[in-house]
Amino acid sequence: MMLRAIVLAAGKGTRMKSATPKVLHELCGRPMLWYTIAALRRSGITDILVVTNDELEPRMAEFGVRSVVQKEQLGTGHAVKVALEALDVQTGGRVIVAYGDMPLVTDEIFSGMMGSLDSNGASGAAMSLVTVKMPLPSNFGRIVRKGNDVERIVEVRDASPQELEIDEMNAGIYAFAENELRDAVAQLKNNNAQKEYYLTDTVEHFVRQGKRVRPVLCDDHLHVLGINDRAELALARKEMNARICAQHMRDGVTIIDPDSTYLEPELTIGRDTVIYPGSTISLLSEIGERCAIGPHARISDSKIGNGVTICESVISQSQIGDGTSVGPFAHIRGHAKLDGDNRVGNFVEIKNSHYAKGAKSAHLSYLGDASIGEESNIGAGTITCNYDGKNKNKTTIGKNVSIGSNTSIVAPRTIGDGALTGAGSVVTKDVPPGERVAGNPAKPLPKK
Ligand code: UD1
Ligand code: MG
Repeated sequence: MMLRAIVLAAGKGTRMKSATPKVLHELCGRPMLWYTIAALRRSGITDILVVTNDELEPRMAEFGVRSVVQKEQLGTGHAVKVALEALDVQTGGRVIVAYGDMPLVTDEIFSGMMGSLDSNGASGAAMSLVTVKMPLPSNFGRIVRKGNDVERIVEVRDASPQELEIDEMNAGIYAFAENELRDAVAQLKNNNAQKEYYLTDTVEHFVRQGKRVRPVLCDDHLHVLGINDRAELALARKEMNARICAQHMRDGVTIIDPDSTYLEPELTIGRDTVIYPGSTISLLSEIGERCAIGPHARISDSKIGNGVTICESVISQSQIGDGTSVGPFAHIRGHAKLDGDNRVGNFVEIKNSHYAKGAKSAHLSYLGDASIGEESNIGAGTITCNYDGKNKNKTTIGKNVSIGSNTSIVAPRTIGDGALTGAGSVVTKDVPPGERVAGNPAKPLPKK
């Protein structure tokens, strides 16, 4: 059987009070819409069409699904009509409709909807929908029941005081027999408080025809929280972050305080790694086993090996090898690569540089566009003067080199294996292997 999904995301999102389309507002590093699409995919649905507006459409490439523009936002029913017009007719097919503003939705909810039209005996339903009990007051549409079936959905703005007392709500996730849905949306009217074509009015259409509309009760209202403003977005963000943290903890990561640890989907974090409070890990970063991350570490788009310590430091677009210790207060960025057993200490910035095994820079230094050989030691206050006002120049330091405190290396420069610079050296010429230099400008010292 043909199964496809339509995701509605064309709404104006007025309540966000934003220049950014509502479903592009982020939680845990991904736009709201990303989560709905990801949950649909996890449930096995791959044929997904998103209904967008003019602002959202140019951003759709990043989601890897088809989309269609709803030029005028005339309501959820109209949006589905626009979607169906863009889809070839699949007689006997099934359609799941979901709103793009419910990022906490789970794949289980979608899987549950798949069989919902056929379950419970022979008499199939034309439509089924997710309902949820929710504390009042609520701005969700109310479910008016008739026995076990749904008779009507009433939007808050059209509801009577008695109807507002109903605590069973419309979550905004539906399954339809496609041919039934095509009929129903063709006949929607907009005679309601908002003058919109409501998808929810398809219920009455089916009931009038003597067809069944089946409720599928969801037991956790957070899973179907619809985000309409930034306060609801913050609530969803907290919940999503808690979920992601919980999953890593179940997988063997210690998180001291999930409330102040900020993670994203699709991270890899190895067993027995401990994350201390105030840390943020983002953008597909990978963290190895037995690491100590934080407190207050910020790691993005980076790969961290095993047994690495990163304390109060910022690491972006970089790789840190096994057994390395970083921080407190270091900044490693711009495709830096540390091979392992390195030490990067207080107030050290490393940009686009390579540290071979065991290289160290423990205090107050800037290493930019540099390459440092095995076991070399960069003394406190060392600066690679990589920028001459026009170009970024490279510094190459060999292995077992000792760079004295407060050395400035005026790049481009090469310092050979086993060389040494004295404290306060300003290196303006290449230093051959084994040579010892000092002074400003640095000159060779007498051989020992
Ligand atoms: C809707 C439901 C309500 C339900 C609630 C759950 C209707 C009429 N009401 O109300 O019963 O309890 O969701 O969260 O469906 N959209 C379009 N085009 C439009 C209008 C809306 O694509 O012309 C999209 C929006 O981008 C949004 C979704 O449809 O993703 C729902 O629209 P929204 O305005 O948020 O509806 P609610 O008032 O929340
Ligand atoms: Mg909504």
